[in-house]
Amino acid sequence: MSKLFTPITMKEVTLKNRVVMSPMCMYSCEQEDGKATPFHLTHYHSRAVGQAGLIMVEATAVQPEGRISAKDLGIWNDDHIAGLKEVTEQVHANGAKAAIQLAHAGRKAQLDTPIYAPSSLKFNDSFKEPVEMTSHDIEETIDSFRKAAKRASQAGFDIIEIHGAHGYLINQFLSPLTNRREDSFGGNRENRYRFLGRIIDAVKTEWDGPIFVRISTDEYDEKGNTMEDILYYTKQMKNDGVDLIDCSSGGVVPASIPVYPGYQVKRCDHIKNTVGIATGAVGLITTGIQAEEILQNNRADLVFIGRAMLRNPYWPKVAADELGEDLEAPVQYKRGWQ
Ligand code: FNR
Repeated sequence: MSKLFTPITMKEVTLKNRVVMSPMCMYSCEQEDGKATPFHLTHYHSRAVGQAGLIMVEATAVQPEGRISAKDLGIWNDDHIAGLKEVTEQVHANGAKAAIQLAHAGRKAQLDTPIYAPSSLKFNDSFKEPVEMTSHDIEETIDSFRKAAKRASQAGFDIIEIHGAHGYLINQFLSPLTNRREDSFGGNRENRYRFLGRIIDAVKTEWDGPIFVRISTDEYDEKGNTMEDILYYTKQMKNDGVDLIDCSSGGVVPASIPVYPGYQVKRCDHIKNTVGIATGAVGLITTGIQAEEILQNNRADLVFIGRAMLRNPYWPKVAADELGEDLEAPVQYKRGWQ
C-alpha cells in the first residue's frame, strides 16, 4: 500500500488519501461580489470526482479590501455562505473533504479602493502605496478572520487554512522586509508573529476543526525572515494549536526564485522534523512517485498539487497507476479506468 493513498486523520477529519488540491485563485467572480459562480462549482467538483482527498478552495478574502483582484472569491459577508455551501456539498458527495484558504492581500491588493498594510511600503511600482494600518484596523481585520471562520463552518468546510504566505497581509506582518511598525505588532519576531497568533486564536473561537497555515519558508532576500525566524513562528503555531504547516515560499518582495522539481520540500522536511509538526509539501510535485518519495521519507504528511491538477483533474488516477493502486471511485468511471 502506498502512503499517498493511505488515509490520514487530523482531529475528527479523515482524508481518504494524501493528495491535496493546492489553493489556486481563479479570479472568476463575474459580478465582482465575491460569490461563487457555476465555474467554481465545476472547477472544484471536477477535482473531487478526480479523487483528490482534500479540495482546498482558493484564497478567499475576509474583507473586500483584502482581495487580490475585484474578481476574487469572498467570505466577508453572510451572503457568501450559500455558494460556498454548494461547493462543499459537491465535494463531499464525491468522498473528498473540503478546505478553504482564508486570505487578505494587504499591500498586494490590486483594487481601486485604498489598500492596507502593516507599513506604508509598496510592493513595486505596479502596486499602490498602502495605508499603514491603525490598531483599530488591526483589530477589525483579526475579527474578520474570526467571522470568516464562522461562515466557513456554516458553509460545511472541514478544514481552514490561514494564508500566511506569498507576501500577503499576514506575511507582511511576519517579515522584517515589510513590517516597520514600532508598536507591539512590529520590531522583533515575537511582535511580528503577534498578528498571526491573534488570528489563530480568533479563528479557534469559532472553529474546532483542523487549522493549516501556509507560510513562505524562504523570502529569497538576505534581510528577510531567516530559517531561525521560521522555526520560531512554526513552534509558536504548534503551541497555538495549528495542525499543519503548508510550506511554500516567496512573494514577499520581488525576487528571483530558483525553481526545480520539489524546490520547497527541503524546508518542509526541516520544519517537520525540527519542530515536530505535520507539514504539507508543495511546489513542482508532478508525479505519484515523487509524492510517494516525500511521504515515505517522512518529509511531509500531505502533498499539495497545484498546476498539475489544473492540467489534469484526474491527476490522482495517474498517480495511483504509477504506484500500482486501484482506485475504488468514482464508480461511474470504473469501467473506463481499468
Ligand atoms: C496559485 N497559488 C496560490 N497559492 C495560494 O496559497 N493561494 C492561492 O490562491 C494561489 N493561487 C494560485 C493560482 C494559480 C493559477 C497558480 C498556478 C498558483 C500557488 C499554488 O497553490 C502552488 O503553491 C504553486 O502553484 C506551486 O505548486 P505547483 O503548481 O508547482 O504544484
